[in-house]
Order: sequence, then structure tokens, then C-alpha cells
Amino acid sequence: MPDRGKWFRRTLCSLALLVSALAGAAQDCLDCHLASADQPVLAIQHSAHAALAGGGNEACRACHGDSAGHIAAPASSAPDFSFGPHWPMPAAEGGARCLTCHAGGEQLHWAGSAHAAADLACTDCHSLHRQSQLAPAPDPATSGCLTCHSEVRAELRLPSRHPIAEGKTACTDCHNPHGSPTPGELAAVTLNDTCFTCHSEKRGPFLWEHPPASEDCSLCHRPHGSVHPRLLTARGPALCQQCHAAAFHPSLPYGGEGVAGAAPNQNLLGKNCLNCHGQVHGSNHPSGARLTR
Ligand code: HEC
Ligand code: HEC
Ligand code: HEC
Ligand code: HEC
Ligand code: HEC
Ligand code: HEC
Ligand code: HEC
Ligand code: HEC
Ligand code: HEC
Ligand code: HEC
Repeated sequence: MPDRGKWFRRTLCSLALLVSALAGAAQDCLDCHLASADQPVLAIQHSAHAALAGGGNEACRACHGDSAGHIAAPASSAPDFSFGPHWPMPAAEGGARCLTCHAGGEQLHWAGSAHAAADLACTDCHSLHRQSQLAPAPDPATSGCLTCHSEVRAELRLPSRHPIAEGKTACTDCHNPHGSPTPGELAAVTLNDTCFTCHSEKRGPFLWEHPPASEDCSLCHRPHGSVHPRLLTARGPALCQQCHAAAFHPSLPYGGEGVAGAAPNQNLLGKNCLNCHGQVHGSNHPSGARLTR
């Protein structure tokens, strides 16, 4: 099928050139780039970028540059900053143009972020000429992240999970897609602080702290989803036994003392450590030193 939008634009463009040549007037962006079905450029007039540099043709220049060469020979010469798709340009070059205005705030750590390192362009996530995608979320909870992160998509279906697919938690609640100084591009200054934005009751301080909980929630929890209940990395007692050996009271249910006929330890056999040590995140009870209450 012939590309009618293109045909229409080229014809219009030639006409405009002809008219302007006759009148001796210079052409500008909007004289040629009217809205058409395949190139909805004017939707930008309804976006946060409409009023850039006073609006109109000046708004176009704020991103695409003065583009004198392109105006003189539109079919063969690219605008100063084209962003593609007709004349593709390197991701970093396009990003640098956006960063002339967006270098601070949420984008402060773009340079050095995992996404910049992977050579993503701003336009991999943002669609500047589509009003609906300017705040770029087709689904506000997953923001288009899952088109690339299929490994996370799978985790969102596990039996225990953060309710992201259900729309109650969003990827951007925990991550800054523009990068951050925290490993994993997390939105807060530490992993635990990220969790505390919603689970503040786990912050403490507690009279009796459990060191791994104050140190790093991910010692025991997966962030997105898990086959174990409560997003745990392993089930108790195996979870606890990664760190606790058979000191004081034997904590190895499958050790020699737990084997049938070899005087099973009644504290442990068939029981979960949590039956007695329920306060694994820390306790405020005066006699909660062993996290039992
Ligand atoms: C905020 C920056 C920004 C402003 C302002 C802007 N553009 Fe764009 N433009 C882009 C980006 C980025 C692309 C690449 C396509 C996309 O959005 O992913 C693009 C793409 C285009 C395209 C190609 C579209 C296609 O689908 O083939 C045209 C034509 C265009 N812009 C013209 C204009 C005109 C005319 C104006 C002024 C009304 C303008 N632009 C204002 C950033 C901008
Ligand atoms: C004389 C007509 C004319 C003028 C004036 C003009 N353009 Fe274009 N522009 C074109 C044509 C023709 C194309 C070729 C692509 C096509 O057929 O869609 C194009 C393509 C583009 C593209 C697509 C780049 C890409 O890689 O996909 C952008 C962006 C663009 N113009 C921006 C501008 C801006 C910004 C201005 C003003 C500074 C401007 N144009 C002025 C006719 C014009
Ligand atoms: C000339 C300065 C300038 C340039 C260049 C520019 N922007 Fe913006 N941008 C703004 C202003 C001003 C706003 C509106 C105020 C704000 O939210 O900070 C804005 C808002 C945005 C928003 C939020 C929109 C919303 O609805 O809340 C996004 C996303 C964005 N810009 C992305 C980009 C991208 C991607 C580029 C490069 C293609 C770009 N900008 C280039 C000035 C600019
Ligand atoms: C991996 C996807 C992704 C990339 C790449 C990306 N963004 Fe964003 N951007 C988002 C998402 C998602 C939001 C919405 C954030 C939210 O809802 O908290 C956003 C929001 C924004 C906003 C508005 C929010 C604010 O206050 O900052 C601006 C401006 C912006 N991005 C600019 C950029 C620029 C400039 C680039 C390139 C240097 C870029 N983005 C690259 C996903 C991305
Ligand atoms: C266009 C594809 C694409 C999109 C869309 C995308 N990412 Fe990425 N992301 C990547 C690539 C490529 C990497 C670097 C390689 C890797 O670690 O998988 C990366 C890395 C990351 C990392 C760092 C991983 C690590 O090991 O430190 C996080 C976190 C991340 N992305 C989150 C997000 C979030 C949140 C969104 C949505 C706002 C998103 N991504 C959207 C492609 C994408
Ligand atoms: C409840 C907070 C939270 C939410 C919501 C969340 N993440 Fe994460 N994500 C994390 C934490 C914590 C890590 C581990 C960071 C580390 O240990 O370095 C992580 C790691 C990652 C990684 C690195 C690779 C991996 O799997 O460990 C990617 C990619 C990622 N997240 C993408 C996403 C995407 C996409 C979404 C939305 C579908 C999302 N995250 C939602 C907290 C979250
Ligand atoms: C944006 C808010 C938010 C953040 C940030 C957050 N969570 Fe959650 N978390 C939730 C919600 C909502 C639920 C579901 C609560 C419910 O169903 O009652 C939940 C549930 C949980 C559960 C129980 C899951 C189950 O199967 O019952 C655990 C464990 C958990 N979160 C750990 C974490 C950890 C660890 C972090 C930091 C990496 C974190 N959360 C960050 C909102 C958040
Ligand atoms: C030593 C392992 C361990 C560490 C570290 C840990 N948790 Fe837990 N967490 C558990 C266990 C075990 C459960 C299940 C308790 C139950 O089912 O009674 C749990 C349950 C939860 C729940 C759901 C039930 C509830 O109590 O609300 C949330 C939310 C939670 N943890 C958040 C966190 C946060 C936030 C951190 C970091 C501050 C953290 N956890 C650190 C072991 C741990
Ligand atoms: C990542 C390692 C780690 C994991 C996993 C872990 N703990 Fe701990 N736990 C510690 C450390 C370190 C201490 C502090 C020991 C000390 O002060 O001598 C501690 C202290 C305790 C104490 C108090 C002991 C005392 O001497 O005061 C109890 C009870 C306890 N943990 C139970 C559990 C239970 C139950 C689990 C499983 C849900 C668990 N722990 C998982 C590292 C861990
Ligand atoms: C039937 C209840 C019960 C079960 C099940 C249980 N414990 Fe205990 N545990 C206790 C009691 C009670 C104490 C405190 C004894 C005291 O203070 O004199 C204790 C003390 C501890 C201590 C402190 C030991 C020390 O040297 O000071 C650790 C660590 C501990 N338990 C870990 C575990 C682990 C890990 C499991 C699971 C493998 C587990 N416990 C299962 C009741 C239990």
C-alpha cells in the first residue's frame, strides 16, 4: 500500500516550497510538518513541552535544533537532532540533547546508570509526540519495563509476590529507571530504606534487634516474587540455618540428634523455628532477647 501520509506531506511540502519560493519567504518547521496519521507531531502541543522556548516553531528547535541545513534541503539533510526513525542517531547524542534541560532531579544519575550503560535512548521509554505516553506508562504499575525485563515478568506470577501485576505496587516505587547511586537502581538510599517507604513498622529501632533484618532485608526476602511464602528466599528452618548452627540448643532438625531412633530433639523435629522465635524482625518485649515475643 502506498504511504499516503508521506505522499501527502511531500506534496504539501513541495507546494509550500513553491509558494514560498514565489513569495520569497522562508519556510519553517510547522509549514511542512502538519499532523498526519503516520506522523502525529502536533500532539506535542498538548504536552508539557508545548510551551518550550515560547511555543510554535521555537518549541521544535528546543529539541531538534535550528536545522538550517534540513530546512534548505528537507529530503536529503537531517535536522540537527533527528532522534530517528528516518535519520537514526546514537542514543547518547539524543540523550545529551534532552539532558540540556533534564540533567537534574530524577535524571541526576543518568550517566553511569545501568540503562545508559546498556545504550538505551530516552526514546526507548518516552514517546515525545504522543501525549498519552509522555508520562510514559501504558500500565502505570509496570511502565513498559516488562517488554525488556522478561525475567521479572515471570517472577510476578510466582505464588508469593509483590502485588505489581495487581497494580498496588509499581516498578518505579522501588526503582529509578534513570539510575541512582544505590545498587540495583533503587529509588531510596539503601535497600532497606526502599522497603521502609511502605513497611515502616519494620524499621525499628527495636529493643532487641535481629542483625540481618537491620542490615539487609534481601538476606531473607526476594524483591519481586518467590516460590516460598512471604517472599522468602528459603523456608524455615532452612532459612534460619543458613546462619544459625547447633549452638546453645540444637538447631539442626536433620542432624544426628533429629534422626528417628536417635533421641529426636523435641524443640526442632517437625517444627519451624518461627513457632517459638516469632519476632524475626526485632522485638520490643523486655524479655524478647531471643526474639520469642
Ligand atoms: C521535547 C523534545 C521535542 C520537541 C519539543 C519536538 N520534538 Fe519532534 N521528536 C522528538 C523525538 C525524541 C522524536 C523521535 C520520535 C519519538 O518521539 O520517539 C521526534 C520525532 C519527530 C519527527 C519524526 C516523527 C516520525 O514519527 O517520523 C518529526 C517530523 C518531528 N519530531 C517534528 C517536530 C516538530 C515539527 C516539532 C515542533 C512542533 C517537534 N518535533 C518538537 C523530540 C521533540
Ligand atoms: C520545507 C519543508 C520542511 C521544513 C521547513 C522542515 N522539514 Fe523536517 N522534514 C521534511 C521532510 C520532507 C522530511 C523527510 C521525512 C519524511 O518524509 O517524513 C522531514 C523530516 C524531519 C524529521 C524526521 C527525522 C527522522 O530521523 O525521522 C524531523 C525530526 C524534522 N523533519 C524536524 C524538523 C524541524 C525541527 C524543522 C524546523 C526547524 C523542520 N523539520 C523543517 C520537511 C521539512
Ligand atoms: C528546552 C528544554 C527541554 C528539552 C530540550 C527537553 N525537555 Fe522535557 N521538559 C521540559 C519542561 C520545561 C518540562 C515541563 C516541566 C517539568 O516537568 O519539568 C518537561 C517535561 C518532560 C517530561 C514530563 C512530562 C509530563 O507529562 O510530566 C518528560 C518525560 C520529558 N520532559 C522528557 C524529555 C525528553 C525525553 C527529552 C529529549 C527528547 C526532553 N524532555 C527534552 C523541558 C525540556
Ligand atoms: C527505562 C525506561 C526509561 C528511560 C530509558 C528513560 N526514562 Fe524517563 N521516565 C521513565 C518512567 C517510567 C518515568 C515515570 C516515573 C514515575 O512514574 O515515577 C519517567 C519520567 C521522566 C520524567 C518526568 C519525571 C521527573 O520528574 O523527572 C522526565 C523529565 C524524564 N523521565 C526524562 C528522561 C530523560 C531525559 C531520559 C534520557 C536521558 C529518560 N527519561 C530515559 C522511564 C524511562
Ligand atoms: C528497552 C529495554 C528496557 C526497558 C524498557 C527497561 N529496561 Fe531495565 N535494563 C535494560 C538493559 C539492557 C539493562 C542492562 C542489562 C541487564 O542488567 O539486564 C537494564 C538494567 C536494569 C536494572 C539494573 C539491573 C542490575 O543488574 O543492576 C534495573 C533495576 C532495571 N533495568 C529496571 C528497569 C525498570 C524499573 C524499567 C521500567 C521503568 C526498565 N528497567 C525498563 C533494558 C530495559
Ligand atoms: C518492592 C520493591 C521492588 C519493586 C516493586 C520492583 N523491584 Fe526490582 N528489585 C528490587 C530489589 C530490592 C532488587 C535487588 C537489588 C539488589 O539486590 O541489588 C531488584 C532487582 C531488580 C533487577 C535486577 C535483576 C534482578 O532480578 O535481581 C531488575 C531488572 C528489576 N529489579 C526490575 C524490576 C521491574 C521491571 C519491576 C516492575 C515489574 C520491579 N523491578 C519492581 C525491588 C523492587
Ligand atoms: C510501594 C510500597 C512497597 C514497597 C516499597 C515494598 N513493599 Fe512489600 N508489600 C507491599 C504491598 C502492597 C504488599 C502486599 C500486602 C498485602 O497483601 O497485605 C507487600 C507485601 C510484602 C511481603 C509479604 C508478601 C506475602 O506473600 O504475604 C513481604 C515479605 C514484603 N512485602 C517485603 C518487602 C521488602 C523486603 C521490600 C523492600 C525490598 C518491600 N517489601 C518494599 C508494598 C511495598
Ligand atoms: C532473618 C530473616 C529475615 C529478614 C532479614 C527479614 N525478614 Fe521479613 N520475614 C521473615 C520471615 C521468616 C517472615 C514470615 C513471618 C511469618 O510468616 O510469621 C517475614 C515476613 C515479612 C513480612 C510479611 C509479614 C509481616 O510481618 O508483615 C514483611 C512485610 C517483611 N517480612 C518485611 C521485611 C523487611 C522490610 C525487612 C528488612 C527490614 C525484612 N522483612 C527482613 C524473615 C526475615
Ligand atoms: C543472615 C544470617 C541470619 C539469618 C538468615 C538468621 N539469623 Fe538469627 N541472628 C543472626 C545474627 C548475626 C544474630 C546475632 C547473634 C549475636 O548477637 O551473637 C542473630 C540472632 C538471633 C537470635 C537471638 C540469639 C541471641 O543470642 O540473642 C535468634 C533467636 C535468632 N537469631 C533466630 C533466627 C531465626 C528464627 C531465623 C530464621 C527466621 C534467623 N535467626 C535467621 C543472623 C541470622
Ligand atoms: C520449641 C520452641 C523453639 C524452637 C522450635 C526453636 N527454638 Fe531457638 N530457642 C528457644 C528458646 C526458649 C530459647 C531461649 C533459651 C534461653 O533463653 O535460655 C532459644 C534460643 C535460641 C537461640 C539463642 C541461642 C544462644 O546461644 O543464645 C538461637 C540462635 C535460636 N534459639 C535459634 C533457633 C533456630 C535457628 C531454630 C530453628 C532451627 C530454633 N531456634 C527453634 C525455643 C525454640
